[in-house]
Amino acid sequence: MPYCDAFNRPIEYLRISVTDRCNLRCIYCMPEEGVPQLEHEQILSYEEIARLARVIVGLGLSKLRITGGEPLVRKGLERLIELLAAIPGVEDLSMTTNGILLAGMADRLAGAGLRRVNISLDSLRPDRFQAMTRRGRLEDVLEGIAAAERAGLRPVKINVVVIRGLNDDETLDFAARTVSPGWNVRFIEVMPLAPDPRWASDGYVPSEEIRQRIEAHFGRLRAVDGQGAGPARYYQIDGASGTIGFISPISEHFCFRCNRLRLTADGQLLPCLMSEQGVDVRSALRSGASDEALRALVVQAIGAKPSGHRLGAVTRGPGATPMSRIGG
Ligand code: 5AD
Ligand code: SF4
Repeated sequence: MPYCDAFNRPIEYLRISVTDRCNLRCIYCMPEEGVPQLEHEQILSYEEIARLARVIVGLGLSKLRITGGEPLVRKGLERLIELLAAIPGVEDLSMTTNGILLAGMADRLAGAGLRRVNISLDSLRPDRFQAMTRRGRLEDVLEGIAAAERAGLRPVKINVVVIRGLNDDETLDFAARTVSPGWNVRFIEVMPLAPDPRWASDGYVPSEEIRQRIEAHFGRLRAVDGQGAGPARYYQIDGASGTIGFISPISEHFCFRCNRLRLTADGQLLPCLMSEQGVDVRSALRSGASDEALRALVVQAIGAKPSGHRLGAVTRGPGATPMSRIGG
């Protein structure tokens, strides 16, 4: 039985950021020069992450996701995957990646026990992709997607952050990919996060607007039965093998079904994506805390989960942990 928070939400899902570093500089996520980086000693070792994960899985959180920054820039990630896959009670082990390094690694990741990947991809146009990420090559990501499919890291989900005036003219192109070759695409409303919340105020496109545009072109969308436990709402174009999902942190207030906890690369448990402060588990891990003591800290973090945030009404302050240290 999963552990429930103060608002009776079953907490089932842990997102683990393994690094704050990234090989891209997406314009809405990082400034050109990057953000101050954590020192090596500040970052949890794979053994520390695995020990904590074992305690957390023991509380009934059975789904683990590895994020970054960009998780694949951390060396030897297969070793962490093996450690996590070996924890009794882990039912799902996935990763969110920008896909740049995936083509060369997909087989090894699958072999280590990774089940599936979500790939962040905001544009299908090479020049625009390069501009939005300030350095990425679209071709690398497309090869990464194909390699993930071949390696069985399925279903591969493609996450698109939609920003008006930047890439919102590509929503139909992404939707077409759910018909052929059958991608699973999820459109995400841009959130007002550090370093520059203005992307969200100027660029916000409500999911409903995207849905209507897609329906005007492809016909009525069918709601998919058996929606997952996460925040996305899934639909299909008639005859498509892939799905279209909408993640609507601004227009949909889905906090009431929030099922997750986040571990930052530097060892804080964040009760909420919007939390400015987390519970410091790194100090405990490094001062010989017992599993029982770690468990108490996890329970404390779950207990600190607020009923919801007020995204849109407030933004996280400039001192808040940057997204690249939380991993979405
Ligand atoms: N709003 C919405 N999604 C964001 N991501 C990063 N910053 C934002 C934001 N401000 C997404 C990335 C990736 C995931 C890890 O988080 O694009 O899909
Ligand atoms: Fe882009 Fe993700 Fe890297 Fe941020 S962490 S720069 S969103 S790829």
